[in-house]
Amino acid sequence: MTRIGFIGSGKMAQALARGFIASGRVEASNIIASSPKSDVALLEQAKILGINTTHENTEVSHNSDIVFIAVKPPHVSKVASEIASSFRRDQLLVSIALGITIRNIEALLPSKSRVVRVMPNTPAVVGAGASAYSVGSACLDGDSRVVQELLSTVGYAVEVPEVYIDPVTGLSGSGPSYMFAAIEGLADGGVKMGLPRDLSIKLAAHTLLGAAKMVLETGEHPAVLKEEVQSPAGSTIYGIHELERGGMRGLLINAVEAASNRSKNVGDQNLPRQSIPDEAEESEKETPQTPNTTVKRQNKK
Ligand SMILES: NC(=O)c1ccc[n+]([C@@H]2O[C@H](COP(=O)([O-])OP(=O)(O)OC[C@H]3O[C@@H](n4cnc5c(N)ncnc54)[C@H](OP(=O)(O)O)[C@@H]3O)[C@@H](O)[C@H]2O)c1
Repeated sequence: MTRIGFIGSGKMAQALARGFIASGRVEASNIIASSPKSDVALLEQAKILGINTTHENTEVSHNSDIVFIAVKPPHVSKVASEIASSFRRDQLLVSIALGITIRNIEALLPSKSRVVRVMPNTPAVVGAGASAYSVGSACLDGDSRVVQELLSTVGYAVEVPEVYIDPVTGLSGSGPSYMFAAIEGLADGGVKMGLPRDLSIKLAAHTLLGAAKMVLETGEHPAVLKEEVQSPAGSTIYGIHELERGGMRGLLINAVEAASNRSKNVGDQNLPRQSIPDEAEESEKETPQTPNTTVKRQNKK
C-alpha cells in the first residue's frame, strides 16, 4: 500500500489524512506526519488517528512514497531544501502551499523530481472539498491518477493546467470564507425579520447546500435556476433587486480577482530570488496553454 507523508500537520494535512483513512484508500499506519517541536498538540491529534508522527521532516521523506508539503508558504523553501538531498525519483512530491509554483519547487529538488501542485479547500474536513491539481513535467504516467484518487476521498477533484491554480485559489480555495459570510448575512436577515438565530443559520446553510446541489445535479446554468424561482411581482425578484442594487455579483467577481492576485504575489514573496522564474519567460511559457477541456471529474464517494 502507498506510504503517505505530511510535512506540516495542520488543518489541511489532518483533513486530507482523515479522508484518506476513512475511504480505506490508505491505512493510518502507512501515514507519517511531522511538525515542529512546538506543535506537540497537533501531533497528538494525528496519533489519535493512528498516524505515525515525528519532528524530523527527513524521516517523513525517507518513509513515504508520496510526500505532501503542507506548511505555510514562507516555510516551503526551507522544508523542500531539508529533504532535497535524499529525495528520490521514485517518490512523488505534492505541494498544497498557496502560490508556490511547480517550477519553484522543482528548482529546490533534484532535477527530474516529480512534483504535483494542489489547491484544496477546507470543506475537505467534512468530505466535501473541492481540489484542483496540476502535474509537473517530470511526473510519470499514473501520477495524476493516484493524486485524483487520493483527493477524491475528500470531495471533488479535478486536474487543471497550472495557470488555473491562482484563479482556483481565488475561487474555491478562498470561496468557503465568502460563503460563510453569505450564510452569516442571510442568517442576520432572518434574525432581523424575527427568526431565532440558530434556526436562521440552519436555514441559510441548507439553502446554500441545496442551491449548490441543484447546480451540480441538474446541470442547468445558475441563471436559469435563478430565474425559475422568480415569479412576476413575487417576493424573490424584490430580494434579487436589492442584491443587484448592492452589486453582489460584481463583489464576488472582485473577491475572486483579489484573492487570485494575492495567491500569485504570495508565491513570489516566499521563495529565494534565484528560484523565481523570469516574468517574461514565465508569461511566454504560460500564454500558449489552452484550457484542458477534458479534465477529469470525480465526485466523492
Ligand atoms: N487552510 C486552507 O483553507 C488552505 C486551503 C488551501 C491550501 N492551503 C495551504 O495549505 C498549507 C497548510 O495550511 P494549513 O491551513 O493546514 O496551515 P496550518 O494549520 O498552519 O498548518 C501548517 C503546519 O505546518 C507547521 N510547520 C511550520 N514549519 C514547519 C516545518 N519547518 N516543518 C514541519 N512543519 C512545519 C506549522 O507549525 P507552526 O504552527 O508551529 O508554525 C503548522 O502546524 C498552506 O501552505 C496553505 O497555503 C490551506
